[in-house]
Amino acid sequence: MKFSWCSLLALYLHTWAISPALPEESAFTELEPQVITRSEALKRLDPARIEGSETLRKILNSVLDASRGNPVFCELSMRFQCLDRAEELMDFAVAHPDHHTSTDVIRFLLRNNLADSIANRLRSSGPSTEADGLVRILSSSGTKEAFHILKNLITNIEVPPDRKKMIIRSMATTRAGSSSLIDIHTSNPLSPELALLASRVLSLTPWESVRSRAGESFPALGNTGAEGFTLAELRLLNADPDRGKSVFTDPVIGCIRCHVIGNSGVAFGPALTLIGEKLSPEALLESILSPSSGIAFGFEAYEIELDTTEVLYGIIASETKDFVMLRDSLGANQKIDSASIVSRQKSAVSAMPQGLAKLMSPQQLADLLAFLESLRGPE
Ligand code: HEC
Repeated sequence: MKFSWCSLLALYLHTWAISPALPEESAFTELEPQVITRSEALKRLDPARIEGSETLRKILNSVLDASRGNPVFCELSMRFQCLDRAEELMDFAVAHPDHHTSTDVIRFLLRNNLADSIANRLRSSGPSTEADGLVRILSSSGTKEAFHILKNLITNIEVPPDRKKMIIRSMATTRAGSSSLIDIHTSNPLSPELALLASRVLSLTPWESVRSRAGESFPALGNTGAEGFTLAELRLLNADPDRGKSVFTDPVIGCIRCHVIGNSGVAFGPALTLIGEKLSPEALLESILSPSSGIAFGFEAYEIELDTTEVLYGIIASETKDFVMLRDSLGANQKIDSASIVSRQKSAVSAMPQGLAKLMSPQQLADLLAFLESLRGPE
């Protein structure tokens, strides 16, 4: 095949035209060559040396000032325990919620008793994606302090319901978060609307013990939706791929939280951009009704226990001798030191929730299927 500038341009324009307007993750601040050299030297410097030296401290501060908005800023601030940089660290986490450095930043702030300043930031920020990013990082950090902050927000009457819903969805993505959600409801019942959402998302978690506790603490849904419908039955309905697309992007059903189509969505599970070519309609239905019956290669879920007794759950995005990059179902990446891993266990259960069809009417499932079937490359 021969490529010309024209066809490249056409391809570029095509990709551009079909890519939906998702906010791009903002770029990192560029570093001047001198700042890079100095930051490399500082990374090797024993933090104790800074204590006694006014000159070194000045250099550190000038490098920090020149590298705000770059991961280097965070690495150095954390290495030298610059607690006075907490607000700027949070600015970074808010601007780059999916970068592993942001997870480190939030853990660092929590470890250093700065939970209050995170909570303040969450309370004061408007109904923006800014707060959503922070909530996601907090939930995936899996620490007690983080859940404490989230719990206070859920039970605070001044926090708007949409923010609370976002928090409930985030908490239900980790085992510890799910348990603490059940505890919150047990000690201080959620409003009926929030309780319904919580019972839905908890009934979809991969942990049997969580599901059964949730079943006791929350009113049963009593509705099996489209569960158990066969392809032949669904074919009797008039399906519409456009309506199916809104099922796909529905925040409670949540396909979009774990799958990418084109440029939108979260890359937790496999990209579905061309899934209509890869899987037959039968296989598509099967992967929605019983995800664990065939787990896509490379997308197996793991539970990783750390020496701090925290247990993290997710898909291993990459791995070297020294660290494991774990991606959770909110798309947040965490860089875990191999040395801190006590055990890791592959889960026989898919990281895609069982029972999503319960959340849809048969019509919605038929529409969703038609939408997935339509996801093909250009003829
Ligand atoms: C919590 C995250 C999550 C949600 C929500 C989710 N999925 Fe998945 N999905 C995954 C993961 C992880 C896999 C890969 C493991 C597997 O095959 O079970 C997967 C696999 C799939 C596959 C098979 C892909 C392949 O290449 O074989 C399809 C199709 C699919 N999902 C569709 C959906 C649809 C439609 C929805 C919404 C109704 C949905 N998923 C919701 C995480 C999710």
